[in-house]
Amino acid sequence: MNVQWYPGHMTKAKRMMQEDIKLIDLIIELVDARVPLSSRNPDIDELGKNKARLILLNKSDLADERQNAAWESYFLEKGFFVVKVNSKSGAGVKAVHGAIQEACKEKIERDRRRGIKNRPVRCMVVGIPNVGKSTFINTFAGKACAKTGNKPGVTKGKQWIRLKKGVELLDTPGILWPKFEDQNVGIRLALIGSIKDEILNIDELSLVLIEYLVHHYAGILTQRYEIVEEGKPVEMLEAIAKNRNCLLKGGDLDYSKAAALLIEDFRSGKLGKITLEIPEETE
Ligand code: G4P
Repeated sequence: MNVQWYPGHMTKAKRMMQEDIKLIDLIIELVDARVPLSSRNPDIDELGKNKARLILLNKSDLADERQNAAWESYFLEKGFFVVKVNSKSGAGVKAVHGAIQEACKEKIERDRRRGIKNRPVRCMVVGIPNVGKSTFINTFAGKACAKTGNKPGVTKGKQWIRLKKGVELLDTPGILWPKFEDQNVGIRLALIGSIKDEILNIDELSLVLIEYLVHHYAGILTQRYEIVEEGKPVEMLEAIAKNRNCLLKGGDLDYSKAAALLIEDFRSGKLGKITLEIPEETE
């Protein structure tokens, strides 16, 4: 499977990010709670090395609770501030205010000691495409936000959303590029639906998913499709096709239809809350 992110896009995204990072105190990085590592790009650690860092485990509603907690500890140990959120429903989003204050405590203290009052803490949201950046900004900033911009003291052309407690958020998120050189990353991002389906081999993807589910979430396929979780993944895909009556015109089983159905059930959460990456299995 070969997924491409054009180098031109990447260079431009990186350049813009470098410029924007100069203007801010805190980087709010969204990752997908189902694939917290594959949905990151470690380049952001280098780009934002002198900034306060907050990681949001977004789409936590679709991921496994136990693994959400494990990932939270994982990132806390690495020195990040972390909040689990569901940007779509707003669950957990209120806690982000407190986390921003915590993460920027030093800067706020320093300003206070120097007698600087009312200098806002400035943040920007970053993340790979489809991770939920726009959804988060809308939910977090809400309707009560006032936009500022093109005023003295405000960088020209940049729009800041003023939030409560002296916090300002850059209104356009920074787009990080995925680490496509790692094939497993490509596969996981494809499974969560952040890569266009037209360029993917759905059959192959479904087999990877079946293998993972049988290993980590035993019983889940039996429960939904009444199949026996035994044998090769392709045999289980066949059983799913039979259970769901996926047939081609001549009456043969339609494996691709079954594969698409399985992947859609996973993406929409119908299979349950599932995380595709586990901290102990990384590194
Ligand atoms: P981006 O700016 O990072 O590219 O992502 P965007 O906000 O456009 O979100 C991508 C998709 O993810 C959207 O779905 C959005 O609703 C969904 N999403 C964002 N945050 C969450 C979350 O915490 N939980 C869940 N379950 N979904 C989330 P979409 O299919 O493009 O649109 P729609 O179905 O919501 O209309």
